[in-house]
Amino acid sequence: MLETTHFLDIDDLTTTELHHVLDRAAAIKAGKEDPRLEDQTLGMLFEKPSTRTRISFETGMTQLGGHAIFLGPEDIQLGHGEPLSDTSRVLSRYVDVVMARLFDHEDLVEIADYADVPVVNGLTDDAHPCQTLADLLTIREAFGGFEDVQAAWVGDGNNVGQSFVLGCAMAGLDLTVATPEEYGIDEEVLAHAAEYGGEPTIAETPAQAVADADVVYTDVWISMGQEDERDEKIAAFEGYQVNEGLLAETDAEVMHCLPAHRGEEISHDVLESDRALVWDQAENRLHAQKGLLVELLNK
Ligand code: CP
Ligand code: NVA
Repeated sequence: MLETTHFLDIDDLTTTELHHVLDRAAAIKAGKEDPRLEDQTLGMLFEKPSTRTRISFETGMTQLGGHAIFLGPEDIQLGHGEPLSDTSRVLSRYVDVVMARLFDHEDLVEIADYADVPVVNGLTDDAHPCQTLADLLTIREAFGGFEDVQAAWVGDGNNVGQSFVLGCAMAGLDLTVATPEEYGIDEEVLAHAAEYGGEPTIAETPAQAVADADVVYTDVWISMGQEDERDEKIAAFEGYQVNEGLLAETDAEVMHCLPAHRGEEISHDVLESDRALVWDQAENRLHAQKGLLVELLNK
């Protein structure tokens, strides 16, 4: 049983709960546990596109014996002027849990404020905690734990990066971050990571960040909704590509939440190499979210 009702960012869990959700996910993945969410329905609100989040949540609910409903931006009255507050209260009368992928994080907070059922963040402009659960599960599988693992985040200090920074701090995973100065991790997130005793080291260059890394993580430079910033971001991220040159002196594994833009934040060769943990990461979205859902619904 979790203390939190909602999962809006990774720090809605206590550190103990974070490990517990990961344990639960691993047990479900290994077939050691078979919790059921029979007759439970997940409502999935999407303002942005998705492959992994949509499919892993829907498949996860099916595997747990429940059901998921996809609610795209044009499908429901929310996309035609009905307020978030009304949508949230109405959804709560039908479904047992809501997952939402939205632009503005404050909109997710508003949905949670009005919901009578748990609300899960399926990505906002600020955070992607379900991804972090899968990332930590993947690192734990690859390295057998977190304690002696050195991770590096190279690229944009975006939603995926911010939740990963907090998740690493909570899990006790050492992290070094290399971002262009103007695209760094939010100061509040860094301060919050410090409260867990896990403020990341800020590297001057990508080369510095990856030098001692066991695992190097990157994500797209132009996130959904930032298409107008494309030219200036591409220029700012010159030298931040994760490629064979950057990794020449290390045998570090490589992570990416996907979708990847080959030739921008990551090279084709690295993404297709044996270093890449990205397919395990994608699979682990399914297991991690099943662990989360059964914990949120107390099953
Ligand atoms: N990593 C991730 O969230 O992918 P989707 O955008 O495909 O859901
Ligand atoms: N940072 C990316 C992640 C996609 C899963 C985005 O927000 O578009």
